[in-house]
Amino acid sequence: MSEGTVKKEERRKFQAIKGTRDLLPPETALWNRVEQTAHAVFGTFGFGEIRTPVFEETELFARSIGLDTDIVSKEMYTFQDRERSEIPGVDRLRDLLGLLRRILTAEYGGEARDGSALLVPGDRGKLGREHVSVPITLRLGIDVAQELETVKDLQSFVANLDSSYSSELIPQTRQNYASSANIKRYYKQFTELLQASRETVSLGSFVQTLELLIESLGRLQLGYSLTLRPESTAAVCRAYIEHGMRSLPQPLKLYYVGPMFRREQPQTGRYRQFYQIGAEVLGGTDAPAIDAEVIEMVMTFFEKLELQSVQLEINSIGDRNCRPKYVELLRAELHKVKDKLGPDSQRRIETNPLRVLDSKLESEQAIIAKLPRIGDHLCKECADHYAAVKRELDLRGVKYRENWRLVRGLDYYMRTTFEITAQGLGSQDAVCGGGRYDGLVELLGGPPTKGIGFAIGEDRLILSLQESGKAPVARGRDVYIAWMGENARATAVRAAKTLRNAGFSVELPPVEQKFGKALGQADKLGAKYALILGDNEVTTGEWTLKTLADGTQRKVSEQQLIAELKKM
Ligand code: HAM
Repeated sequence: MSEGTVKKEERRKFQAIKGTRDLLPPETALWNRVEQTAHAVFGTFGFGEIRTPVFEETELFARSIGLDTDIVSKEMYTFQDRERSEIPGVDRLRDLLGLLRRILTAEYGGEARDGSALLVPGDRGKLGREHVSVPITLRLGIDVAQELETVKDLQSFVANLDSSYSSELIPQTRQNYASSANIKRYYKQFTELLQASRETVSLGSFVQTLELLIESLGRLQLGYSLTLRPESTAAVCRAYIEHGMRSLPQPLKLYYVGPMFRREQPQTGRYRQFYQIGAEVLGGTDAPAIDAEVIEMVMTFFEKLELQSVQLEINSIGDRNCRPKYVELLRAELHKVKDKLGPDSQRRIETNPLRVLDSKLESEQAIIAKLPRIGDHLCKECADHYAAVKRELDLRGVKYRENWRLVRGLDYYMRTTFEITAQGLGSQDAVCGGGRYDGLVELLGGPPTKGIGFAIGEDRLILSLQESGKAPVARGRDVYIAWMGENARATAVRAAKTLRNAGFSVELPPVEQKFGKALGQADKLGAKYALILGDNEVTTGEWTLKTLADGTQRKVSEQQLIAELKKM
């Protein structure tokens, strides 16, 4: 790279990462209104807010969402909490091993590759590997005390291994337990051999011990594999188990608002950091009224926001009794038409045939329309449950359309699934998705627990509101304080404080300005009124209040100011 290129690189402007974006005023006012409405509406349904961390153990998502899903197989932001190279002293062990290997090569009579071999005349070729006995320290000038000093950190790392587990600094996995037993053993052998190397020592066993020690240090998984949450259902279930929330009155109703992360191809309505407003109902019964009430809650929320062209689609995808048989039937039918399907669907015949039903490919639509439908293959319990959900929705006046192809892209669903679309979202038109997931808490190590929930894509919700003209316009300042002169400064500061305490939005210029300039500035900021404070106003106590829309002015006293503004 040329110096010019480097300079250019240093001067380059930083930009938000692809697929992420800044949310700015006045748009953020709409975000706040949406979130406030969610707090209010969800509160009326008895939901409490939960905030979980933005990253969790990778395994939590892998197990919940499913390994074959798009999210887990290609969209997660995953990183190692702590790198292996953080183990102190390992580099020195490697150097030492290199050195010993070189001598060993030479002792065998082979050529030392870099010519650094230190040979004792007469040794060459005489002795086999196991029998080579040489005073290493003497020949290499290794100072044992110095060597032990260099790996002192390693020594304390090894000594503290057990307590590191109990304080969870190191993940408590079976592999780690096995590795640490080996590490302790080989570290002990290593120090013994090092001590002995002052005299003579079998070079072969020294090399071997070092190899084993380095290898077992390398096997130790120092940190957890972590992932930025691609969704929150798994995290809420984790928290439900972790905090023993089963002992609270059931079902437990929780909701959340926050950023999620998926490495998707960015486009309008699809981001790599996006926001969800979601809710989960955990524990208690799986009564169809719960499914219906959860859906009713989202619809009420959308109604309050005046979201336009809201369409609710529902389906039942059966449970572990009936779905596997249907999936096999579907797979068999798909095999018959395999040649007519695109590569994605062909792959899914094996990995997850249900997802073929999700396909938007024009050429596949006619084929999919003829496939067997899950509704005709539900077991009696699932069919009854689904019928009851529909009755409960009718009871609540919630309009829906049945869509037998609605299977959803996450593995944890069973029975009820639903999706909601809204106006102006183009191809990314799902503004909410959800469903029932009765086995999930158990899959994560908890007790058998019922569960159902949804998540709204907040970015898409906002987009749709903006498309239909529901976005707020920027709010200007109520009062701009135009002050001039040292005397007026203190009065202006006092006036700003009084006005702000009364709830008015106030702009107080930090430095003195000529009145003409100040009024121009007030106009630009969309201020409704200018409070003019000059020497005159301060001395007489008669302040000037100007209405910027029509240029009229009136005199008010400090005491009258708030009342006067409230009247206007
Ligand atoms: P999901 O269908 O993956 O479900 O996501 C829910 C909603 O999040 C989508 O309908 C969409 O509006 C929004 N969304 C997803 N990905 C993106 C993206 N890359 N950019 C913008 N918006 C996006 C879930 O996440 C489940 N956890 C929902 C759930 C909760 N099911 C039961 N409980």
